[in-house]
Amino acid sequence: MKILVTGGLGYIGSHTVVELSNNGFECVVVDNLMNSDSSVLDRIQKLSADPIHFMKRDLLDKHQVAEVFELFHFDAVIHFAGLKSPAESVVNPLRYFEENLGTTINLLNEMQRNNVKKLVFSSSATVYGDLTEPPVYEKALTSILNPYGRTKLMIEEILQDLSKSDPEWSIAILRFFNPIGAHSSGTIGERPNGVPNNLMPYITQVASGRRQFLNIYGDDYPTPDGTGVRDFIHVMDLAHGHLKALNYLSNHSGNHIFNLGTGKGYSVLDLVRTFEEVNGVKIPYKIVDRRPGDIAVSYAAPSKAERELGWKAERGLNEMCEDAWRWEKDLVKPSKSF
Ligand code: UD1
Repeated sequence: MKILVTGGLGYIGSHTVVELSNNGFECVVVDNLMNSDSSVLDRIQKLSADPIHFMKRDLLDKHQVAEVFELFHFDAVIHFAGLKSPAESVVNPLRYFEENLGTTINLLNEMQRNNVKKLVFSSSATVYGDLTEPPVYEKALTSILNPYGRTKLMIEEILQDLSKSDPEWSIAILRFFNPIGAHSSGTIGERPNGVPNNLMPYITQVASGRRQFLNIYGDDYPTPDGTGVRDFIHVMDLAHGHLKALNYLSNHSGNHIFNLGTGKGYSVLDLVRTFEEVNGVKIPYKIVDRRPGDIAVSYAAPSKAERELGWKAERGLNEMCEDAWRWEKDLVKPSKSF
């Protein structure tokens, strides 16, 4: 099967391409390199069974999207490309709406025109907002905390309308919880631009001495140790979930939503302590004010994915911490830098 992977050089995309290639799928990556680096391609290639095709193209430009579909005939598309910072989206909502919605509409139009009607879309647990007590099931009410989250929900709604309009579409919407970790080889991993927003990349940068200490945003949440609780999931488990979703789409039409999480909640301090223990490094931290927009607790009910996709997260917190640190150590070695 030939798969178009948009945003395939990004954090989750790159791990997914490796997983797909090593399981017999042929991958064509399209990425505009806005939030990624072309050297990731060589790294993915080293880990993959077969050659990965790459096209630097911008999905906001209809002509560039059409060109991709002229060159290849795809069996399915996995759509990762998009802007992903909640904080930035509050400051610049129009950029988020234009980029995330515009690229998706161009992609869907071209898929329809070429009769490619299987799609796996990267959504986020952020669409649940703060209305529901965890564990969160797919049928929970949605609520939006920022424009980034709104773009994810709007795209989900567009996809629902699309599959209602034409029963030939087969769409899997995957709501990711908190992906962390890296490929166990240390060859690919998360590489945020500038100061990391997310917890794990910040921890690894403190561990390597790139930053002095971690700010923990609040220790007065109604949780066992007062810090926020999240469903951290190993990025390779998430990558494997995409493979399962593609298989599912080969014999299911319509629109299907799945949580991809472990079903377990760990606190910020749990993660810091586990990281320190398994890697033998110290993570100095300071407790600071809560970060606006953060919720206290979020973790998935992943039973639907287990039942229908035959997928379950297998890697634990220790492995997530070991792999994240191996990747960061590799990144800071002068000979290995990008
Ligand atoms: C965030 C986004 C979410 C997005 C996800 C992608 C917000 C409100 N939500 O989720 O929409 O889909 O990233 O991965 O931004 N923390 C610290 N110190 C830090 C960084 C984080 O204490 O330097 C804490 C946070 O307060 C939170 C937990 O760590 O309790 C996880 O934060 P983060 O990794 O940013 O993920 P989310 O906020 O859950």
